[in-house]
Amino acid sequence: MKLGTPLSPSATKVMLLGSGELGKEVIIALQRFGVEVIAVDRYENAPGQQVAHRAYTIDMTDADALKALIYKEKPHLIVPEIEALNTDTLAEIEAEGFTVIPTVKAVQLTMNREGIRRLAAEELKLPVSPYAFARSAAELQASIDAPKQKGGVGYPCFIKPTMSSSGKGQSRVTEQNQVQAAWDYAATGGRVNQGVVIVEGQIDFDYEITLLTVRAKNASGDIQTYFCEPIGHLQKNGDYVESWQPQVMSQQALKNSQHIAKTITDSLGGLGLFGVELFVKCDQVWFSEVSPRPHDTGMVTMCSQRLSEFELHARAILGLPVDVSMKEAGASAVIYGGVDSKNLAYEGLDAALAVPCSDIRLFGKPESFLKRRMGVALATGKDTDEARNRAKLAASLVKTS
Ligand SMILES: Nc1ncnc2c1ncn2[C@@H]1O[C@H](COP(=O)(O)OP(=O)(O)OP(=O)(O)O)[C@@H](O)[C@H]1O
Ligand SMILES: [Mg+2]
Repeated sequence: MKLGTPLSPSATKVMLLGSGELGKEVIIALQRFGVEVIAVDRYENAPGQQVAHRAYTIDMTDADALKALIYKEKPHLIVPEIEALNTDTLAEIEAEGFTVIPTVKAVQLTMNREGIRRLAAEELKLPVSPYAFARSAAELQASIDAPKQKGGVGYPCFIKPTMSSSGKGQSRVTEQNQVQAAWDYAATGGRVNQGVVIVEGQIDFDYEITLLTVRAKNASGDIQTYFCEPIGHLQKNGDYVESWQPQVMSQQALKNSQHIAKTITDSLGGLGLFGVELFVKCDQVWFSEVSPRPHDTGMVTMCSQRLSEFELHARAILGLPVDVSMKEAGASAVIYGGVDSKNLAYEGLDAALAVPCSDIRLFGKPESFLKRRMGVALATGKDTDEARNRAKLAASLVKTS
């Protein structure tokens, strides 16, 4: 692997498509290798744009705008950080010889719940919740009501747009009179209103994890799969509020989780880090979904691992070796905006950082909303209980106005 000098003809250039808080950390990791980084987002002053060599603000679903920018910058690697992209354009670009991380196939399949669910369940035969796709409220009701042996999903169930993330447009339904509202919410709450929703039977899990899985080159130059220690997390309304590492699990559950993660990431291919979301009950494991990039719940690795998920992603995509070892038990807790503001101020950082073994990341997002993730508190401890208590305390001490 040869790396150049940034801002010179020899530069190794990486373009991030989407430059939020996760992209920002990937950019910082790349900068440390002297990579020339171009940050693209749909709004000005996105977190990653503030730390990149160059920044552009374009509509990345616009084929012409996206293509023109890629031709102008000619990056060695194109790294999608968000799902709302024109993936047909990426496919054309890949066919012309550009490298998209991890692969365009992975980006295309994971941006749509239908693509990844059919791949996981129907092609790879991985265990998943009962599910159906519906194109109308009536079809949705029928898929819930069908007999179990005919694939009926039953109650309680989750209804989600096929194209969405962070719990947008998603509802949990326990009885018939909630179905119409859930349909309306999903059909309008998705990113691209395709009029298709997925309904999933509820898995009665003991806990859920993200298994960070890295496809990176080993010493002989072959692609090898590495697993980080499992990350446990807590979700509220489809959005993560807290995560910790390691999540204690049985040997068998870990083995099943790694098997699922290896199978799905082998199929998606390419180099990079993936966040494989799994539900666990005793030794049983179900595949939920996968991000072909660093995962929000993986922010805990900034304090718990020798190399964070962002550094692992940066190394993997550059073809460099990785080390997924943990340092100590850690936790993360989300800091919300608390108010709608374009001029947010943060106080209480002195108190928050006085919490033992804690750290704070503020993303620098130009606009805050009541429930927008604006930062994260990190903490380590002798075990995850202590780390979680510290991270939650530190997060709660940060005051916004
Ligand atoms: N079939 C299910 N059974 C049990 N819980 C579920 C199911 N589907 C979703 N959930 C719960 O809702 C959370 C969010 O669901 P999912 O990951 O599908 O949505 P998302 O919008 O992609 O969220 P994110 O982008 O934050 O990962 C899950 O982490 C889990 O806690
Ligand atoms: Mg999820």
